[in-house]
Amino acid sequence: MTTDDITLHRGLAGVYFDRSATTFIDGKEGVLEYRGYNIDELAELSTFEETAYLLIHGELPTQTQLDNYDADLKGARELPEQIFDILALIKDSHPMDALRTAVSALAGFDPDRNDNSAEATIRKGLRLTSQVPSIVMAHHNIRAGKDPIKPSTTLNHAGNFLYMMDGKEPSAQAMNLMDKDFVLHADHGSNASAFTARVVAGTAADLHGAITAGIAALSGPSHGGAAENVMQMAREIGKAENAADYVQDLLSNRKRVMGFGHRVYKAEDPRAGHLREGVKDLSEEMGQPEWYRILEAVVDAMKPYTRRGIHVNVDFFAGVIYYLNGIPQDLFVPIFAVGRIPGWTIQVIEQFEHNILIRPLLQYTGKRNRKYVPIAERG
Ligand SMILES: CC(C)(COP(=O)(O)OP(=O)(O)OC[C@H]1O[C@@H](n2cnc3c(N)ncnc32)[C@H](O)[C@@H]1OP(=O)(O)O)[C@@H](O)C(=O)NCCC(=O)NCCS
Repeated sequence: MTTDDITLHRGLAGVYFDRSATTFIDGKEGVLEYRGYNIDELAELSTFEETAYLLIHGELPTQTQLDNYDADLKGARELPEQIFDILALIKDSHPMDALRTAVSALAGFDPDRNDNSAEATIRKGLRLTSQVPSIVMAHHNIRAGKDPIKPSTTLNHAGNFLYMMDGKEPSAQAMNLMDKDFVLHADHGSNASAFTARVVAGTAADLHGAITAGIAALSGPSHGGAAENVMQMAREIGKAENAADYVQDLLSNRKRVMGFGHRVYKAEDPRAGHLREGVKDLSEEMGQPEWYRILEAVVDAMKPYTRRGIHVNVDFFAGVIYYLNGIPQDLFVPIFAVGRIPGWTIQVIEQFEHNILIRPLLQYTGKRNRKYVPIAERG
């Protein structure tokens, strides 16, 4: 084969590498479905617990199945003592680095650690779903010199996550918005972190390894980091009247507007609208409507770019919701990870079902046939 015969797919854009029965995405029309259920219905009618069950088991649960699943999740929230010690040792790390390290360490404590069967991977995924929020908030408190807050045994997943931040029971509105956010983030096809998790699972490594790698992939600003950057941008803009100039300045310097654009969606990301309403209501209720006005002014300034398929994505509105809930900016990406554990888990299970080593090719462009020169003879 000559190099002329090679068709490069940089970034694997547009390449199908396997089949999946979990999440359907139509990027042109802006449609997202988990297991055949439209995200619009799930965001409005379902809960994170129910959606996680749906993703993992393929069907919506009966009330009894949901009660049992919920009880199992609540029962898995505690962390081994040693994880707190590890978090204390790395208390100055970025929360994503701390999370990645703690998830990796948890592999050694998991009762199913030597078992890669689907049943064991489901159990490990359930434990990680509950342990990841505990890690994020334990690190958050430890780095502030405080003791971690014991998880609630009664609050739902979203409520417990917020509760473990400061020990205060969150408002129903805050809890509902966080729950919706987790539903919206639960899975999203072969995005960079899920693909990374599949690459690791493709070697027959285990779920903890796959999710550790997924967390590393998620930490970058082109993937999970955008919500953090949007909040930064909103702060820099300061008031809605400044938004148009700010955006123009970014674009004329060929910089990207965070929270816009998507590799797959060329229509509006169907998840974004669900959070848009949340920002509007929450910012008004908290007497800080300027945040919503700033975001809408950025959307207006970006209108000409919708013709090029650049629309708001899920991260655009998420950051302000977190901010208004008093969550520090560097916890925004970990929140994404908290929501995504069911998605990574089911994708690893799918990968294991018909496993194949994922090993593409690189077109070599370097020098060839060079003669080794002993070090003494090099000029
Ligand atoms: C998500 C993202 C990496 C997808 O990028 P992609 O599919 O690789 O698309 P490309 O990087 O090839 O961009 C295609 C064109 O759109 C432009 N573009 C894409 N996203 C843009 C953005 N957020 N702001 C301004 N221009 C953007 C690019 O500059 C490029 O223009 P060009 O053809 O003139 O060079 C990209 O849109 C981005 O960086 N967005 C901001 C970060 C973000 O919000 N990430 C969260 C995703 S959920």
